[in-house]
Amino acid sequence: MNLETDFLVIGSGIAGLSFALKVAEHGKVVIVTKGEISECNTQYAQGGICSVTYEPDNFEKHIHDTLVCGAGECDEEAVRLVVTRAPELIKQLIQWGVKFDKDKTGRYELAREGGHSEHRILHHKDNTGDEIERALVSQVKRHRNIEILEHHFAVDVLTQHHLGQLVKKSTPGIECYGAYVLNLKKQQVVTVLSRFTVLATGGVGNIYHTTTNPSVATGDGIAMVHRAKGVIENMEYIQFHPTSLHNPGERPSFLITEAMRGFGAILKTQDGKEFMHKYHPMGSIAPRDVTARGIDNEMKISGHDFVYLDVTHKDPKDIVAHFPNIYQKCLSEGIDITKDMIPVVPAAHYCCGGVKVDLNGQTSIRRLYALGETSCTGLHGANRLASNSLIEAAVYADQAARHTLSLLAETGLQEGIPAWDYEGTSHPEEMVLITQNYKEMQQIMSNYVGIVRSDLRLARAKRRLEIIFKETEELYLTSTLSQTLCELRNMIAVGYLIIKQAQQKKESVGLHYTLDYPASVKAKEF
Ligand code: FAD
Ligand code: SIN
Repeated sequence: MNLETDFLVIGSGIAGLSFALKVAEHGKVVIVTKGEISECNTQYAQGGICSVTYEPDNFEKHIHDTLVCGAGECDEEAVRLVVTRAPELIKQLIQWGVKFDKDKTGRYELAREGGHSEHRILHHKDNTGDEIERALVSQVKRHRNIEILEHHFAVDVLTQHHLGQLVKKSTPGIECYGAYVLNLKKQQVVTVLSRFTVLATGGVGNIYHTTTNPSVATGDGIAMVHRAKGVIENMEYIQFHPTSLHNPGERPSFLITEAMRGFGAILKTQDGKEFMHKYHPMGSIAPRDVTARGIDNEMKISGHDFVYLDVTHKDPKDIVAHFPNIYQKCLSEGIDITKDMIPVVPAAHYCCGGVKVDLNGQTSIRRLYALGETSCTGLHGANRLASNSLIEAAVYADQAARHTLSLLAETGLQEGIPAWDYEGTSHPEEMVLITQNYKEMQQIMSNYVGIVRSDLRLARAKRRLEIIFKETEELYLTSTLSQTLCELRNMIAVGYLIIKQAQQKKESVGLHYTLDYPASVKAKEF
């Protein structure tokens, strides 16, 4: 079956939906998403979205904080673009119906998180992402030019490779013509031909055992671009959020927002001692990488499975008013956060690297754009400043919309793409082969490619992953297409990219911390 459209958007978080809304007045948009429309990282965002709003904050301060956090690895042009365009895109979100909290005087209430020198985070209680997703979904559902295909899984993007040509990384002028998309309910592959294709497939958290990301975050977009011979960068910079609720067996791990540390919560060991001042002058409000490593180290020293986050010294009414969602969740687990300390552990949270894009969100492959967490714009460098990702997605969706619209008239649909070849495949005889490889991959990544790395650990991870890679490729070639198998394959590709790029880095910088190499001089200057 064939489907033709002007814009194919893969993914329905803030990046995909805001791009779709920007271009829909000018052409037909098809959004494909592998689950229900709202199942995405965006929906789980708690803390909020950054934008310079009131004095004494200003653009230079936000730029400075972002560059410092990025440890000398940010692209300053991308940082300036996002920071200076943020207020305009916040206005757009408000016009689409997003409600941010205000104080009694009618001014927006701004929160502060780790690494920020000012209060600049707009939020909706402690469930900002849910509010943003609600408003965007309601807008796209009403738009006559937008078709939404839920339970549709993008398998691969289409390039000259699908016209029978040999495509290598060095091939000039690689182009994208759309994607093969698996209709999960009918088990049929649809060939979607598009003038422009946008990958907005979110993060990679599920390659680790403990993650704040929902199960859809399996790095599909990054893996698809890797297979299509596009450029992927900065994959060694995986951000671990310092404070997810310690609740063994729960997936995804429930996040305890960093805004709680901004509000005054303090990290303590299990015997009640503060420890973060040992690692950073900002103490419990230090940037995320330092905090996660501090917690990791304290857990290793003590042999404990978690540390505590203590907010009990604050006014109980204020706690409940600011963090109603967290209060209720913890209460349901038997923890009254106004009286009890919260057990927390670091969890894989955000991928700072991804598909390399320019200032228009365009990848190294023509007619293919990557937005949001899937992309690497250069904004985050070696470490993302808290609450900078939702705004990055909004700004780059707008940049990409402008760019694609400027090229729309001169871009046609490609002919001659063959339908999906179902030949020679049958149902996998033993699903356990897939599920076991999935678990093994998560163990390998968590044990050897986590918060603290070393040459030895990375080499071991690579060897182990190669075995799983070979087994999974054999299965893929002989099995009927299934979401689980495709995701496993994608996650192995992403794990491989993280290991390879981590091995290439001969210094500790930002989120990439290795026992074998000291911190880079450049990072120390920041
Ligand atoms: P997502 O919102 O993850 O959307 C990805 C979409 O792609 C999903 O719809 C998914 O189903 C779809 N998809 C994936 N693969 C395929 C495929 N093969 N085929 C079809 N569809 C596919 N950032 C902030 O700035 N502030 C915060 O306060 C904040 N809090 C966070 C809290 C949590 C718990 C988490 C997990 C993240 C948080 N982040 C926060 C990060 C931020 O939420 C994400 O980076 C951002 O939402 C990513 O948006 P996105 O549109 O790129 O991807
Ligand atoms: C949080 O609320 O702590 C998450 C913020 C983020 O990941 O940017």
